[in-house]
Amino acid sequence: MSKIIKTLVAGTALTAASATIASAEGVELEVTHWWTSGGEAAAVSKFADAWNATGNTWVDGAIAGSGGTARPIIISRILGGDPMAATQLNHGRQAQELIEAGLLLDLTDVAEAGGWSDIVNPSSLLGACTLDGRIYCVPVNIHSAQWIWLSHDAYKNAGLDVPTNWHEFVASSGDLKAAGTLPLAMGQQGWQQNIAFGAVTLAVAGLDAWTEVNVNKNADVARGPEYTAAFEAVAASRALAAESNVQDWNQATNMVITGKAGAQIMGDWAQGEFAVAKAVEGQDYSCLPGLGLNAVLDTGGDAFYFPVNDDPEITAAQKELAALLISPEVQVSFNLAKGSLPVRGDIDMSAANGCMQKGLGILAEGGVLPSGDISFSQDTTLQIEDLMAQFWSSDMSATDAQAAYAKLIEDAD
Ligand code: GAL
Repeated sequence: MSKIIKTLVAGTALTAASATIASAEGVELEVTHWWTSGGEAAAVSKFADAWNATGNTWVDGAIAGSGGTARPIIISRILGGDPMAATQLNHGRQAQELIEAGLLLDLTDVAEAGGWSDIVNPSSLLGACTLDGRIYCVPVNIHSAQWIWLSHDAYKNAGLDVPTNWHEFVASSGDLKAAGTLPLAMGQQGWQQNIAFGAVTLAVAGLDAWTEVNVNKNADVARGPEYTAAFEAVAASRALAAESNVQDWNQATNMVITGKAGAQIMGDWAQGEFAVAKAVEGQDYSCLPGLGLNAVLDTGGDAFYFPVNDDPEITAAQKELAALLISPEVQVSFNLAKGSLPVRGDIDMSAANGCMQKGLGILAEGGVLPSGDISFSQDTTLQIEDLMAQFWSSDMSATDAQAAYAKLIEDAD
């Protein structure tokens, strides 16, 4: 456990959250998350509606900004004795220290009653919720980060065909620029730049090198020739995004939707924005998993955690909500709106659009990888994101960035 957490836990008396009220009419549960873009808000309302329909009340605790802003707020509320009833985090290691500190509700009985070990697909997602054989979260979706989203309007305006892979995209960028269009939209935040880095690396360095670095933490491969080629490709991408001055990821998606930019590399949650804008896949925009070169996707995404509460009625309601979030109908309605893949394979996703069908096909073929949140500790992830922020916003050379990155992989835990 980190020193800061130890100190805070020692001085913390856990009390029932003020926003969590039980009454004869049902239970109010405050649920925190960082789903504040148009598409994300549409998706989270599916959860809220389903919970409210049970006679209980969803008290929405949306936190504006990205996960990077929300996570420290969420964690400090739990540590500081002001816990919400439930919270989104990415499944993986973000909650590890909270679990070790005994601050999160053990959901093993709910998981056993719901047969989660038989339905959660891939099973690694349940593994990411498990510590010492006990289950502490309910995974609600699979989000992957290795996608490029292309604007048909931007290509039409430039008199170009829409690229079908990363190399064609790079080749088209000069003509796009000449037509007055920014080739690559990029929000100025380290986590977004790290997503682009990861996607380009997987496409350019290839699956074997990517796996050595991201799963086996092999610093020699991070220093090797495949990664040199990847860093050069990322430096070239930086030049294509040079005039992108938006901050938030959804502002960058909006540049693609409106044809101001040719493309964005972003996770499949971008689909929620296209859906809200009523943009049609294949007609208004295209999506290429694995940047059209390597049809593999990581299995990141979201899970809900439930801080320990001393009121048994609240605890019962928390468990009821956990079961609801993974129930078949809620999995379908939420994931269709979110653009993510469901965590259970036994439901009908035929209403999914072409991009989601591509993702479902890759999942069915087993072309899935662990996410950074699963492989790396939060400390390592934040250090890599800081390096990416520095690299994308300066003229740091590909060689220097590669050396700094390899060092982080060497020290990664
Ligand atoms: C991710 C999360 C997604 C999406 C994205 C952008 O961490 O898994 O659900 O919300 O952030 O906000």
